Amino acid sequence: MQCSWLRRPAQPSRLLALTIAGAMEMAIPAAAQQNSGRQRLSLDAGWRFKLVPTATLDKKTLVTNWTWTAASPDEIGKASPLDESKHTWQPATLGQDVFNNQSGYAWYRATLPALAGTGRTLHFRGVDDNAVVYLDGKRLASHEGWDQPFDVSLDSAWNSAGENHLLVQVQNTGGGGYIWDGVALGLYRAPEAGGDPSRPAYNDSSWRVVNVPHDYVIEQPFTEGLDPQHASLPTPSAWYRKTIVIPKGDQEKDHWLDFDGIYRDAKIYVNGKLVGGRPSGYLPIHVDLSSLARLGEPLTIAVHVDPSKAEGWWYEGGGIYRHVWLTSVNRLHIAPEGVWVVPKTVGSEANPDSATVETNITLKNSGSSSRTYAVVERILSPGGKVVASLRTNPSEPTGAGAIAVSKSRISLPHPLLWSLETPNLYKLETSLEVDGRPVDRVVTAFGVRTVRFDPDKGFFLNGKSIKIKGICNHQDFAGIGIALPDNLQSWRIRKMQEMGANAWRMSHNPPNNELLDACDRLGMLVLDENRHLGDTYVPHTYDENTKADDLSDLDDMIIRDRNHPSIFAWSLCNEEPLQGAAAGAEIFKKMLARVRKLDPNRLATCAMNKDWGKGISLIEDIQGFNYLNESFEKFHRDFPDQPTIFTESSSAVSDRGIYENNGARGYVGNYTDFSLDWLNWVRRTEDAWKPVAENDYLSGAFVWTGFDYKGEPSPYGWPNISSHFGILDMCGFPKDVYYYYKANWQDKPAVHITPHWNWPGREGKPISVIVFSNAPTVDLSLNGVSLGRKACPRNGHAEWTVVYEPGTLIARGYAADGRLTAADEVATAGKPYRIELRTDLAKLTANGEDASVVEAAIVDEKGRTVPLALDKVIFTISGAAGLITGTGNGDPNDHTPDASNERRAFNGRIAAIIRSTGKRGVVRVTATGAGLKPATIAIRFD
Ligand code: GAL
Repeated sequence: MQCSWLRRPAQPSRLLALTIAGAMEMAIPAAAQQNSGRQRLSLDAGWRFKLVPTATLDKKTLVTNWTWTAASPDEIGKASPLDESKHTWQPATLGQDVFNNQSGYAWYRATLPALAGTGRTLHFRGVDDNAVVYLDGKRLASHEGWDQPFDVSLDSAWNSAGENHLLVQVQNTGGGGYIWDGVALGLYRAPEAGGDPSRPAYNDSSWRVVNVPHDYVIEQPFTEGLDPQHASLPTPSAWYRKTIVIPKGDQEKDHWLDFDGIYRDAKIYVNGKLVGGRPSGYLPIHVDLSSLARLGEPLTIAVHVDPSKAEGWWYEGGGIYRHVWLTSVNRLHIAPEGVWVVPKTVGSEANPDSATVETNITLKNSGSSSRTYAVVERILSPGGKVVASLRTNPSEPTGAGAIAVSKSRISLPHPLLWSLETPNLYKLETSLEVDGRPVDRVVTAFGVRTVRFDPDKGFFLNGKSIKIKGICNHQDFAGIGIALPDNLQSWRIRKMQEMGANAWRMSHNPPNNELLDACDRLGMLVLDENRHLGDTYVPHTYDENTKADDLSDLDDMIIRDRNHPSIFAWSLCNEEPLQGAAAGAEIFKKMLARVRKLDPNRLATCAMNKDWGKGISLIEDIQGFNYLNESFEKFHRDFPDQPTIFTESSSAVSDRGIYENNGARGYVGNYTDFSLDWLNWVRRTEDAWKPVAENDYLSGAFVWTGFDYKGEPSPYGWPNISSHFGILDMCGFPKDVYYYYKANWQDKPAVHITPHWNWPGREGKPISVIVFSNAPTVDLSLNGVSLGRKACPRNGHAEWTVVYEPGTLIARGYAADGRLTAADEVATAGKPYRIELRTDLAKLTANGEDASVVEAAIVDEKGRTVPLALDKVIFTISGAAGLITGTGNGDPNDHTPDASNERRAFNGRIAAIIRSTGKRGVVRVTATGAGLKPATIAIRFD
């Protein structure tokens, strides 16, 4: 990891200005003849962008009237047609499991309607898991992958004279299995042809201009019938193009591009030639331009992106959604990701006498002659002082085209430790010198700390026992999808820290550099996670023959991330079908060997949701548990030497401001957590956290999830387009359970009353009132009359049944000695009167990327939030320094596009995301709504 101040361009707004209007051509300044010899430029600004037109089906009709039957193993893989009369067929509802969660095979059949014309095509939204398609006894196609749409061309077997009989063999390898609803028959119409955008001469002048990070899937319309796990959004493929010119003076240099993350299956062309790509949407792509660049001439970069195949079961977005960089270096240089720093403390863990900083520097000499060089390393303290330095003069010159590794050990006396409270970061400045002149320099942040797991006593940071109070998170946010500005990464971390969280699980994929940088800076522990077991992207159907020969995703994650002090362990995979099998353990063993080689200083886990004690369990360092906490104790008894961690503990499973489950409308109430156990795998908050808090051997827990995310709307589907799992909603507004954590994950006095106190029509009826507090006793009063003082057990809650009358509820928390520690008040709000705006992101950088989350509340005349208000709010902006990228309200059913500047409030609240345009200045954001007094707030971009 290079530290962020080197990664970021010094003056990003200057770089924006370098984009030549119209042609989208960017002149790269000649590499500054700075001492470092290295230039790293942001290529985020000014990409031409276009969606690839997709094929359509004319005369489309849905295929209904399906029947199904179980298949016997001897019918699989046979050339002879199936004798259908031997089976009893039953009506099938598409989208419903017919396997009862068992693996095996089934047949589905249907008679197709008549269709005149050519190009007859059957479109499948997906077959879970694999399909073989027959028409009138002829095998037409097979398809692997449970969640991907595919088309089957029918003309070669179509009977124009009579009926057409369709038969589909469905294989289920685990979980549920079925044909997804929405099979359609129609005539294939090819997309319009329009030249090859990878060619430099291609005319893209009519394409849209975008800056990256960019997520274009979030710009699509929510569409019923599309995959709800991925937020019911279309996932077309797209092109990005950009032309740069590397000046002639730079021929003695190497040049490369770094794409920090493209979702997904990116193919990168330079001047028409395919030069790189990666199936993974979660890892960087490095493209060496040295042999491609014709200096002084335009270099056209074209990127094809195809997000149609999923890597997970949540909203994954699409596009160049992380940063893009162009690096120019001298021929002799520090290789990409070529600095690895391993600080080791000497003496006591809590107060070490010194640290030994082991460095491994990989150098590359791409020049044509050998070079004699020196490596000069300086360590800068968190305050910026040089506290240690070392000069290494290798006796051997590095040969032409060679790669060399220089290792050293530098002593660092009395190091300032990296901890949650004081996340001290040192910098290692590595310079290469030739004839006493610096030719390259890289600055790498690192932290000195120890982490240790004890099977009986849990997790230790710098010798101090720390209970991991963690949250899992995906990467998207309201109004912007997955293309999160760097400053919002830090903001999200701070939100979690305010609640008391101290750890972040990167679920279920490696994050971008900036999120890890922010965790280092802010003192947030990280469980960094690899996406897949082994090397399998496609097919998704693992079996004992699954190979694990290509572990480059895992390698690249570790090599990129291993310098981050915040990362306390690696998670190599999550809930893999093979987790309990010997075959899974074999693959995991190979992965573990990579971890031992690339980072012997950290342990590894797999987040398992069953089969503990089998398969991967037997070889992983730390046992990960997703849910089912009753298994902990037994595991700890049976495997007393293995540390344990709750990789997923519980979920909020609720919608902000809702207090009743309503399946028909797709809402989940906030009382659910305390009354029902309706998702059979999700633990209730208290049931999950108490054993963690009370048992030392459990290192800690990660709640699924900190923030809501798009997609995975369990337990419902459409019309939900986002999850219900988060402690905070999609915009970062807290649900009730947030206050449970705030009361029990941190020590500041806390009292919170749930629910709101606006229940028209419920007068005289009982309402359950719950108070979260870290005070041992709490008194609740309604309209000045005490309803009794109750104990509020640690990690629990206090509860009253209150006969409803409008007015004011007050909860007061008292310490053991009778002192009042904190109080909360909820009053019945009047009618919506005005809009109130606030933000804790009012001063930002004018870098074309920083964003502010402006929170709006609908309040009554007395300034109380109206808890049920659904008023529509319109946001407008004045000033050239910012623009509105989108809005959100936390309502899982709101189909207003994220990019819209107007939206209904959801239970009194709504948020707008305001982004820097790159210009300096103050913008004024105004929120208006019919019958409401408007409000304005200022945001400054410097
Ligand atoms: C877990 C899974 C998560 C999420 C969660 C929902 O099993 O690892 O990705 O799907 O369930 O409860």
